[in-house]
Amino acid sequence: MSEILVLNGPNLNRLGSREPLIYGSGTYEELVEYCKDVGEAVGRTIEVRQTNSEAEMIEWLHEAADLETPVVLNPAAWGHYSYALRDACALLTAPLVEVHISNIHAREDFRHTSVISPVARGVIAGLGVEGYADAIQAVVRFVAQAETK
Ligand code: DQA
Repeated sequence: MSEILVLNGPNLNRLGSREPLIYGSGTYEELVEYCKDVGEAVGRTIEVRQTNSEAEMIEWLHEAADLETPVVLNPAAWGHYSYALRDACALLTAPLVEVHISNIHAREDFRHTSVISPVARGVIAGLGVEGYADAIQAVVRFVAQAETK
């Protein structure tokens, strides 16, 4: 099991070709490598996953809850309406940081709400894929803080 799970929701496997003006031209594979490099730089093992199945995502969150694994989550569109995903996130005991590549607050009205944010330790939006690095670093900091208590 990895030390930090980076979980990505629907359509994020299409990064690179999907609305590049909004999400950039980097591919999902490049995002995976980027997150692993960030993990290496901070001395943590990062596992990056993506699914278009809400059930699979919920199973992964249950796994993270059982193993007390910290999570960086880009819930993608589910974040705007999935109470099932929110309830699964609420099971987590290790830190959860929500990340969105785009600034969801500057986009369509339906994107302004995140049902995940109230159960996340922190939220990053609009910083591009670099937001994943900030989220990973924040998780590492939260875990270190918890260990010194
Ligand atoms: C997203 C924003 C969501 O509104 C959208 O549905 C996504 C990606 C982001 O990373 O900016 O799929 O989570």
